[in-house]
Amino acid sequence: MKRKFLSLLFLPLVTLGSCSSGVSRRSDMLLKDVYKDFFTIGGTYNEFSFDSKLTSHFNSMTCENAMKWISVHPNVSTYNYQEADRYVDFAKAHNLKIRGHALVWHNEKSISSDVFASNDKETVISIEKDHVNKVVTHFKDDVYCWDVCNEVVDDGTSPLAEDGSNVYRQSNWYNICGRDFIKEAYIEADRTLKELGLRDKVKLYYNDYDNTKPAKRSKTIAMLNWLLEENVPIDGIGMQCHYHLGSFDPAQLEESIIAYSNLGLDVQITEFDVDIYDRTKSNLVNYASYEDVPKEVIDIQATIYDRAFEIFRRHSDKISNVTFWGVSDNNTYMNDNPDYGYLTNYPYIFDVFEEKKPAFYLITDYQEEK
Ligand code: GLA
Repeated sequence: MKRKFLSLLFLPLVTLGSCSSGVSRRSDMLLKDVYKDFFTIGGTYNEFSFDSKLTSHFNSMTCENAMKWISVHPNVSTYNYQEADRYVDFAKAHNLKIRGHALVWHNEKSISSDVFASNDKETVISIEKDHVNKVVTHFKDDVYCWDVCNEVVDDGTSPLAEDGSNVYRQSNWYNICGRDFIKEAYIEADRTLKELGLRDKVKLYYNDYDNTKPAKRSKTIAMLNWLLEENVPIDGIGMQCHYHLGSFDPAQLEESIIAYSNLGLDVQITEFDVDIYDRTKSNLVNYASYEDVPKEVIDIQATIYDRAFEIFRRHSDKISNVTFWGVSDNNTYMNDNPDYGYLTNYPYIFDVFEEKKPAFYLITDYQEEK
């Protein structure tokens, strides 16, 4: 706790005018109110976050897993919305809008293998369309947007090939159906929403990670241009923005927001977090407890949040939502996770006690931009 008070000494005092009890700061306000003139603010929920006292900071939420294919459609012939419906009830009780995440994703843990058993394009696309139709119909406008396709672009670092041959991830979807599975998902979502009379209430996004990096950005733009040329109904792009201590590049973030917006798409920041380890380094030491994390590390993390939010505010005419991929450090998908080297992580703006971290103070008590 000592660390937090020390950090506060270095933060700018931003006054919002005096009140009888003294000076008020934006950091005393709810995040959603601080950002009400910019964009909505989301948290991502799993079964452990329902009792969080932080929910009032948000006006949007994403289900970490509950709306993924495997959760609502555990095998080709079964749909089950029991768990997801609990999140809808939770969102309604707390005045949260829901980002629907995600209809079509390759990740093996997130889809049953029988979807691809036929190895036949027509069969696989008909299963996909059934999924999109049934899930979109079930949630109606309880969600305000869908990540229709998630992570279909290749994430190799090689630049976009002239013939476009390296644009797509070599997933089961792509290997069986070619790129058509992408377009069919949007067409089916759009058709279903029109049939329900809800097309103006539910927007359709493409969501991916690392789409700020130049190679992946140009492949993403190639795919989006193809969809747009084919008049495929797509409204926006989700930039996940999973950063670690050594990966943040503000220029690339800003250029990417501008580039995607120039395509005529709305931009959402869908999965923002900042892993406290610098993954460019080897022999990382685990910080098993929050108290073990050096102050410099928490300050670098805060600076990344601060610089990113400065960019988001400056481009708020292009961005309609910013969502953190979690709520507080007391519960994160990175912990006990081989993909993150089993290191204990503290990636959010609220700490393990659900208290505000330096990042929270920087993104709220910012100096007004000139
Ligand atoms: C991707 C997915 C999310 C989540 C994270 C966890 O970003 O879109 O749903 O699973 O991976 O790493």
